[in-house]
Amino acid sequence: GPPASGGSAAPGTLAEAKAAAEGCRRCGLWANATQVVFGEGPATARMMIVGEQPGDREDLAGRPFVGPAGQLFDEEAAAAGLDRQAVYVTNAVKHFKFAPRGKRRIHQKPDAGEVTACRWWLDLERDLVRPRLIVAMGATALASLTGSGAGILKRRGSVERLDDGTPLFVTVHPSYILRLPDEAARAEERRRFRDDLQAARQLL
Ligand code: URA
Repeated sequence: GPPASGGSAAPGTLAEAKAAAEGCRRCGLWANATQVVFGEGPATARMMIVGEQPGDREDLAGRPFVGPAGQLFDEEAAAAGLDRQAVYVTNAVKHFKFAPRGKRRIHQKPDAGEVTACRWWLDLERDLVRPRLIVAMGATALASLTGSGAGILKRRGSVERLDDGTPLFVTVHPSYILRLPDEAARAEERRRFRDDLQAARQLL
């Protein structure tokens, strides 16, 4: 059912939800981030893709998956026959968490409390979009959606069922692929990621 809203009515549209998220104080990440990065895509999308959290580029742009991980995702999604415009793309956590290092902002993994706090928004997006299929990219998305991200490499490529019956397809995070030190391993993992996205598309 719809998440409890703690006093005021829960937003009834994605636009209202995004506007409300701009004032979110459910955890402390808002304080250092540039802005909230809410999900984007049609409310009628059949597929919802969930990543971890916005990165540096997303924090500045205010849009999910526009940096290097997003570019990999866009390329492999297109190769798999997935139209990004038709998909609802979001993150488990909606503010960028980072540590300053000189002029750079280094990505930090959101902790369990931050993921749990932000699940309020992910649950709301699920409620407003009601996708036929959700794709979890990476352990953080998987943990937010199922309660545990453990064993992701074994769960990868499989379909699980969420509490409300929605099928969940499990894959890795594109940043995991980008971080692989070996060029050949990266190419192979890109191929597997593309196969995963194609398999997910065929479940629709
Ligand atoms: N990584 C994510 O998980 N989400 C983004 O939006 C960008 C990078």
